[in-house]
Amino acid sequence: MKRLAGKMALITGSARGIGRAFAEAYVREGARVAIADIDFEGARSAAEELGGGSVAIRLDVTDQNSIEQAVTETVLKLGRIDILINNAAVFTAAPVTEIARDDYERTFAVNVAGTLFTLQAVSRHMIERNEGGKIINMASQAGRRGEPLVAVYCATKAAVISLTQSAGLNLIRHGINVNAISPGVVEGEHWDGVDALFAKYEGKAPGQKKQEAAKAVPYGRMGRAQDLTGMAVFLASDEASYVVAQTYNVDGGQWMS
Ligand SMILES: NC(=O)c1ccc[n+]([C@@H]2O[C@H](COP(=O)([O-])OP(=O)(O)OC[C@H]3O[C@@H](n4cnc5c(N)ncnc54)[C@H](O)[C@@H]3O)[C@@H](O)[C@H]2O)c1
Repeated sequence: MKRLAGKMALITGSARGIGRAFAEAYVREGARVAIADIDFEGARSAAEELGGGSVAIRLDVTDQNSIEQAVTETVLKLGRIDILINNAAVFTAAPVTEIARDDYERTFAVNVAGTLFTLQAVSRHMIERNEGGKIINMASQAGRRGEPLVAVYCATKAAVISLTQSAGLNLIRHGINVNAISPGVVEGEHWDGVDALFAKYEGKAPGQKKQEAAKAVPYGRMGRAQDLTGMAVFLASDEASYVVAQTYNVDGGQWMS
């Protein structure tokens, strides 16, 4: 029995990386997926490769019109939205004395405002339909505590955990479950960017930070996008209906809370 049979899902930032792995897992479990990304070409080729009735949607989560258009287009193409994953995010790092205001604003615009206003647009649609829904936000172990070079990104992910709690408490009366997944360190293009920033600021050789990060994981290696799909399927399924406003660590044992 497929666990998401007949469900319609919108996943932001799913042209590549973890979001793409979520889309693949959802299609495998019987859902149809709207692959929404600022990289529309990437979204198109992902939708083509995944099949299963998935569709590509153009979306910039920093732009309110784009959010509303993406939701309207998804409802037009899929009929409704049962599941939203707020996955799109950007990473940044710098010593506190070098944080640039525009970088701060961009990172908060994507990671925090993008998450909140996409959640708002989709929850309005879900409330109107009156059949509940599942919303999953992507947090991070970075949101559990600060890091010397990662003040801004850490703060955005702490905000995502907090928004998950408030939105979860506010929306459960409509049968909408809002929860979050908190990964640790996950291989992929995102982490290649992280590695390059640490090489710059800590004078490390390329690849060194990644090796150190992998060694520090109790499980014994970095995460892979596929390590996160089980939780993403569970939180979107009917089995998770009594789970409200929680953030789950899926990080190989790095953080306990
Ligand atoms: N990779 C990790 O180690 C790690 C760890 C903890 C949490 N996370 C979180 O998991 C999620 C996915 O991470 P990933 O590693 O796959 O990242 P990624 O950088 O590989 O993918 C992010 C996707 O978001 C899209 N995107 C960026 N800005 C956008 C915008 N304004 N509007 C729409 N789409 C936009 C990008 O085009 C890309 O396809 C993120 O929320 C990230 O913060 C990742």
